[in-house]
Amino acid sequence: MDFYEVVNSRRTIRDFENVTIEDEIIEKIIAAGLQAPSNDHVRDWHFIVIKDKNIIFKLIDIIPRGISEDKMVALLHDWNLNDPIQQACYRDAVPKQHRMLADASCIVVPLFKQKTDLLHPDNLTHLNGFASIWCCIENMFLSATAEHYACTLRIPLGEEEAWTKQVLQYPEGWCMPCVIAIGKPRSDASMVKQKEYSLKERIHWNQW
Ligand SMILES: Cc1cc2nc3c(=O)[nH]c(=O)nc-3n(C[C@H](O)[C@H](O)[C@H](O)COP(=O)(O)O)c2cc1C
Repeated sequence: MDFYEVVNSRRTIRDFENVTIEDEIIEKIIAAGLQAPSNDHVRDWHFIVIKDKNIIFKLIDIIPRGISEDKMVALLHDWNLNDPIQQACYRDAVPKQHRMLADASCIVVPLFKQKTDLLHPDNLTHLNGFASIWCCIENMFLSATAEHYACTLRIPLGEEEAWTKQVLQYPEGWCMPCVIAIGKPRSDASMVKQKEYSLKERIHWNQW
C-alpha cells in the first residue's frame, strides 16, 4: 500500500474476527513502532505481546462488560461530550471495551520508562517519554493497516494499570500508556464517523 493509502485507511476497529495472527506480522508491526522518533535517542521501549486467551481474559477481567443507558447519559454529560458525532463515537465505543480486547488476535502492551511523576510533571520535558511512545504507537497502527490488520486501544482507567502490572509482572519504573488490540475487522465491523474539517481553516500561514 502507498503511504497515503495507509494513512487514509487506518481506522479504529472494535469488532474483530476471532482469528489468529502470525508472530512474524506482530514482529513487523513492533519493528515499525521502534522506528519512531524518541526524545532521548535510545528507543527504550518494551512490548508485552499476549496471544494466550487465558491471560487476555485475566487481564481484561477488570474492564466493564457494557454500560447501562443511564450510565452512558451520565458519562456523556460528565465528560462534556456535546458534539453529536463525538457522542455517536462514545455510544459505539464504550460498550465494546471488553469485547474488542477479548476478540482481538493479540494484545500488545507497550512500555516506556518514566523517571518523574507522569501525572505531575514540572515541565514539558518530563512528558517526553510519554510523547515518544505515542509516536511509536501510531507507527504500529499504520504498520498494522499496511498488513491488512486493524487496531484499537484502551487507556487504563482506575486500577487497570496496577492490575496490568500485576498480571504481566513488568518491572518497576516502566509505564504503560495504553493497551493495544490488533485483529482482523469483522465483515460487519462499525467505523464511527470521522469529524470533518476544513484544511484551509486549520492551517495558519505565518501567523494565526
Ligand atoms: C489518546 C487516545 C486515547 C484513546 N482512548 C480510547 C479508549 O480508551 N478506548 C477506545 O475504544 N478508543 C480509544 N481511542 C480511539 C479513538 O476513539 C479513535 O481514534 C477516534 O474515535 C477516531 O477514530 P479513528 O481512529 O477511526 O479515526 C483513543 C485514541 C487516542 C489517540
